Amino acid sequence: MLNIALPKGRLGERVYGMFERAGFGCPGALDKGRKLIFENTEPGVRCFWVKPADVPIYVERGAADIGAAGKDILLEYGPDVYELLDLKTGVCRMAVAALEGFRDDPERTLRVATEFPNIARRFYAERGRDIDVIPLKGSIELAPILGLSDVIVDIVETGTTLRENHLQVIETVVELSARIIANKACSKFKGERIQEILRGLEAEIK
Ligand code: PRP
Repeated sequence: MLNIALPKGRLGERVYGMFERAGFGCPGALDKGRKLIFENTEPGVRCFWVKPADVPIYVERGAADIGAAGKDILLEYGPDVYELLDLKTGVCRMAVAALEGFRDDPERTLRVATEFPNIARRFYAERGRDIDVIPLKGSIELAPILGLSDVIVDIVETGTTLRENHLQVIETVVELSARIIANKACSKFKGERIQEILRGLEAEIK
């Protein structure tokens, strides 16, 4: 059995669709029950849903042979895994955004609300800009509205969330999409199986 860690949520469901179309789906995996793990003995795969940020942990430690993760998660946590394939789905960007009309005062420490403190720190360190990271777990867009931060570093896909909250992109930090990652040791002794799945997924990339 090849163990596959999938991220719960919209991105994970899109990626799972690619696995399914490539012949590596697991019956019941999209059911809304509380079951966590699903098997398909014919291609010999077992998939399970975990919090997006946990995918690299399962893969790095070998509890999953491969997994699907957004590039944001990989950049933020820097797991020791192989990044094997860009699935070119879940395409979006990490961006700095602020309230419309915001003017940065370089004399002041910039307050940055984000779910991605490492990405934000690296981005501003490269620019030599002092920042105060305000770590949040969601609804980041609220921070500048309520004066908790000057800017946010967050994921922008359609831009709707920003628009509806009178925020605008100031700068793009990095382009993002879903990636297949693999445990380093498993890539050696299960290399053939992994390659087979990669070939199947590659054929599903639009
Ligand atoms: C993400 C992100 C933005 C939104 C951007 O949040 O944090 O809030 O999507 O998408 P848009 O540009 O298409 O509006 P998500 O819905 O994943 O939930 P979260 O805020 O809990 O992270």
